[in-house]
Amino acid sequence: MYLSDHAVIRVRLVPAGQQKARMTVSLAATRWCSSRRAYLGYKRLAKKIKPPDIEISRILKAQPRGLEKKARPGVTCIMNTNPVATYLASTPPDKIDTGFLAYLCNLTQVAKTSPEIAFSIVRELENQRKRIKLIASENYCSMAVQLAMGNLLTDKYAEGVPGHRFYAGNENVDAIETLAAKEACELFGAEYANVQPHCGADANLLAYWAILSTRIEKPALEKYGTSNLYSLTDAQWAELKADMGNRRLLGLDYYSGGHLTHGYRYNLSGRMFDIYGYSVSKETGVLDYDEIEKQAMEVKPFILLAGYSAYPRSINFKRMREIADKVGAVFMVDMAHFAGLVAGKVFTGDFDPVKWAHVATTTTHKTLRGPRAGLVLSTSEFAEALDRGCPLAMGGPLPHVIAAKAIAFKEAASPDFRAYAQGVVENSKALAAACIKNGLDVLTGGTDNHLMLINVNGLGLTGRQAESALHECRITLNRNSLPADPNGPWYTSGLRLGTAAATTLGMGRAEMEEIASIMALVLKGTVAAPGKTPSSKSKAKYLVDPGVKAQAIERVGKVQERFPVYPELDLPVLKEAFVDTCNR
Ligand SMILES: Cc1ncc(COP(=O)(O)O)c(C=O)c1O
Repeated sequence: MYLSDHAVIRVRLVPAGQQKARMTVSLAATRWCSSRRAYLGYKRLAKKIKPPDIEISRILKAQPRGLEKKARPGVTCIMNTNPVATYLASTPPDKIDTGFLAYLCNLTQVAKTSPEIAFSIVRELENQRKRIKLIASENYCSMAVQLAMGNLLTDKYAEGVPGHRFYAGNENVDAIETLAAKEACELFGAEYANVQPHCGADANLLAYWAILSTRIEKPALEKYGTSNLYSLTDAQWAELKADMGNRRLLGLDYYSGGHLTHGYRYNLSGRMFDIYGYSVSKETGVLDYDEIEKQAMEVKPFILLAGYSAYPRSINFKRMREIADKVGAVFMVDMAHFAGLVAGKVFTGDFDPVKWAHVATTTTHKTLRGPRAGLVLSTSEFAEALDRGCPLAMGGPLPHVIAAKAIAFKEAASPDFRAYAQGVVENSKALAAACIKNGLDVLTGGTDNHLMLINVNGLGLTGRQAESALHECRITLNRNSLPADPNGPWYTSGLRLGTAAATTLGMGRAEMEEIASIMALVLKGTVAAPGKTPSSKSKAKYLVDPGVKAQAIERVGKVQERFPVYPELDLPVLKEAFVDTCNR
């Protein structure tokens, strides 16, 4: 039992005459356990082995009271031997995989403080290995990207910009940030890059702030003859704030695939701006530029915003810029989803957002395949305001993540990445075509990018039921609202699928066809469970035919076997070291 008087204890075990192979390399096998019972168990074990062979080193840490309530009964995490030493001893030098070795060292170190966290990291790998991931906003980044984040750079405060910091000792962070910004500019052909945003939402907030600051605050200060906000009179300050607040923003509405940060009423952006939304055409499901232009002429937005989370077609950014210019708006693009397709030169010319936008924002972790973070690109007009973004609009930068961004930008500049980006779209088109062939209702009849939307209403399901049924059958994707969705943003009527992650694993057309066929099998083999009244149907509960489920899991397994997630990571070894001994 997991007892209330927890102590995480470290037990150094040197079993005489046992585990000879390990002993020769590790000299001592280090064991961890996390309960008083385990502690007592080890004491009993100690008695059975000659005293000099056992060393109960010390009680490392008392766990806080209350943890036992969260932990499942029987939690006892024991790191089984020293996995790094075992790996090194059993692997010829030329076969050592530095990525795997780094993981082993990392998890060993983590487990010394928290075996539970090491346990969950390995379990996450195991979960991801079992499933095909079609979440359009996720990917698998490289080992180099991941490992650049696990180091002392996280200790550093670096408010300000390179060469102009609010803290001393930033020479190395300056070098990292300068490199990352230079690479971002080169990769996207931008005049300016700010690599500090922590995520896509941050990038958008920073962009909004910089646009307001540049186009409203700066001229106002010039008018008042000062550059110091504190020298304004109360009346001037009130006037400036009123002028900056509630400006008009026209962006793609949420139900047409826009993001929450594009002015959804419940989001901060919806309160910062006077929001107007353009929608996809009811007939075609795609953007109608003439209609957008008409609306822009009426609204006269301060910012015209393009970009999406769930729109399966390419956007003509040149046309959008023309509309923005016609109404005197700043043209902003949120390319969070498709930045990898821009970097990989799938979207070029009229379809390249950076070429046409005043300000472009993105995440770096979706199709761009970098760390979980954000980025703002702009023309030089907005550089000064963006440079003041931290600390005025954002918290301190994360130097370890900026280092990982630099690596991701370098990777994205390679010919391999271009081939990857092309592959993402080819797979996406193949998957959409195969879904249609299998009788699924793919919105707009296909896709131009990495994602597509499927309406599951016709199958008698909500998006939530379809998402859960597929996850149960080992295909992971997310439900999504559709234009004019009768089921609202929680249950939804749609599924959003993307091919960025599957393409990283090396999957191609044949796998896309198999995945579409499995999805159709599952969706057609799932029904809504009965609702609360005899004639109603649940919107959340569902029943998957057991035979369908078994068949789907088997077929997913066959695909996954050939395309393992992070193939360099030896899952059985990681499980043996960090999971199997955790009795959960
Ligand atoms: C278009 C768009 N912008 C911004 C974001 C926010 O990104 P993050 O979750 O990194 O804040 C997302 C996230 O999905 C997105 O799709």
